[in-house]
Amino acid sequence: MSPRAKRPAPAAPRTAIGIDVGGTGVKAAVVDLSTGELASPRLRVKTPQPATPEAVVAAVGGIVDQLVADGHVAPGMPAGAGLPGVVKAGRLMTAANIDRSWIEAPAEAMLTARLDRPVRLVNDADAAGLAEATFGAAKGVLGTVLLLTIGTGIGSALFIDGHLLDSTEFGHVTYRGKDAETLVSGAARERRGIGWKQWGREFSEYMALLERWFWPDLIILGGGVSKEYAKYAKYLSARAPIVTAQYLNTSGIVGAALAGAGVGIAAAVIAREAASAPAAAGPDAAVSAGSGARVQAAQVAASLVIEDQPPR
Ligand code: BGC
Repeated sequence: MSPRAKRPAPAAPRTAIGIDVGGTGVKAAVVDLSTGELASPRLRVKTPQPATPEAVVAAVGGIVDQLVADGHVAPGMPAGAGLPGVVKAGRLMTAANIDRSWIEAPAEAMLTARLDRPVRLVNDADAAGLAEATFGAAKGVLGTVLLLTIGTGIGSALFIDGHLLDSTEFGHVTYRGKDAETLVSGAARERRGIGWKQWGREFSEYMALLERWFWPDLIILGGGVSKEYAKYAKYLSARAPIVTAQYLNTSGIVGAALAGAGVGIAAAVIAREAASAPAAAGPDAAVSAGSGARVQAAQVAASLVIEDQPPR
């Protein structure tokens, strides 16, 4: 090859591991990046309590070890992990619905060390949004698309002509003098004991607040509460059309896998993170993620369940 000849670009990965860390369960599967379908069974363990970074990394490690042992994971296959908080440079900066010890812990480096492969941390709602934008309800939609995930908290993902504006955190805007998710998330509805009618009206007021500032062209509702859409659709109103997410159970996994493979993540972010990777990985992170977590992996393996099989 002459010195000026162009090297062929590295082949884009066709599969990646998607990891979804929620308040009750930690789930993972291999995802086919060209179709958004699962290419392995979806494995789940209960989220350890307290859900510290060390304990969760151990749980994730146990699940991924199982996927590897079952022959679903090729060496070097990238992974992405969705977590409920603002993600900056591989660390959570906030932790409203997860143990506070996550804040500023070198989570991406710990996962990378434990899983022995490149791992990208992503906000859980952004992951769900990436799945919808790539394969689901927001696929090919231009303009401003707002996805709200309604569950324990409220997560948000904002897309402008298919580009993600990450970590928007609209669940924490002030609504009726409070953090919105403490009044109108799925968990808040149950805690307050209000019916769908009242919740629907209040959720519409909350959406109106967001519409005043962002004027979305489409609103997508995801998360656990979107499965009950039929019960409250008639009480919802917004300027923009409202649809439910197409991915209900696997959006977090599919979107995290996409993020792990660099899909939907701005090239500038990837370049910046690659430049700072060795420092972020630090020796302490590697040690704590490696040895301690491996000991707990046996316990994780004992509690693993197969949630479902990939479609045939
Ligand atoms: C967190 C968000 C997250 C959402 C849904 C909120 O409390 O701040 O980062 O996306 O919950 O899990």
